[in-house]
Amino acid sequence: MIKIAPSILSADFMNLEDDISRVQKAGADILHLDVMDGHFVQNLTFGMPIIKQIKEIAKIPLDVHLMVSNPEIYLKQLGKWNIEYVSFHQEIAKDLHNKISVLKKYNVKVGIALNPATPIDTIFSLIKEIDYVLLMSVNPGFGGQPLLDLIYQKVTQLREYSDKYNPNLKIEIDGGVNAKNAGKLSKCGANILVAGSYIFGNDNYSKQIQSLRN
Ligand code: DX5
Ligand code: ZN
Repeated sequence: MIKIAPSILSADFMNLEDDISRVQKAGADILHLDVMDGHFVQNLTFGMPIIKQIKEIAKIPLDVHLMVSNPEIYLKQLGKWNIEYVSFHQEIAKDLHNKISVLKKYNVKVGIALNPATPIDTIFSLIKEIDYVLLMSVNPGFGGQPLLDLIYQKVTQLREYSDKYNPNLKIEIDGGVNAKNAGKLSKCGANILVAGSYIFGNDNYSKQIQSLRN
């Protein structure tokens, strides 16, 4: 069963609690939180205090996507708060193995995120240590961009590889997901679909989430 993870980047920040409660009621499986530092990507979003407050009210698992140059400064804290999923980017390419171990101590599900231009073989050596791979289907930084077609081949190849070396690996797709491409992504081997503007851009969240599942 495919999991749907609304990205609150496109939610109404003046009414965030209400929007979170509405997507939960609408059937969201996971809440996707994009942390941007204005350095790894050219945008800023929110940081730890907001994540803590969201964790206090959320009824579904949180998925923290760290688009930051120094993820190590947040990992322990996220683990202590029992955040369910945490991913950081391969492109920072510093001590990925250590970062995975820190999160594993707290039983966090660990993901490595790859930008569209980063080949999947860059994480083959870590495939047995991680729970999921987040494949970016747009260049990270902003919501509302169209999905890049290169993603289909990437998901297919990663699924083939993980079937051999880590059959439990989940593949998460992030960026430009909508009802037109969700079916194909799932067929290629995706397990978690992140969607921001597609879900929050229409007032009927439940209809949007359902259309992604179908
Ligand atoms: C982009 C973020 C995504 C973004 C997706 O850098 O990582 O999670 O919120 O937004 P949409 O679904 O609008 O492309
Ligand atoms: Zn994201």
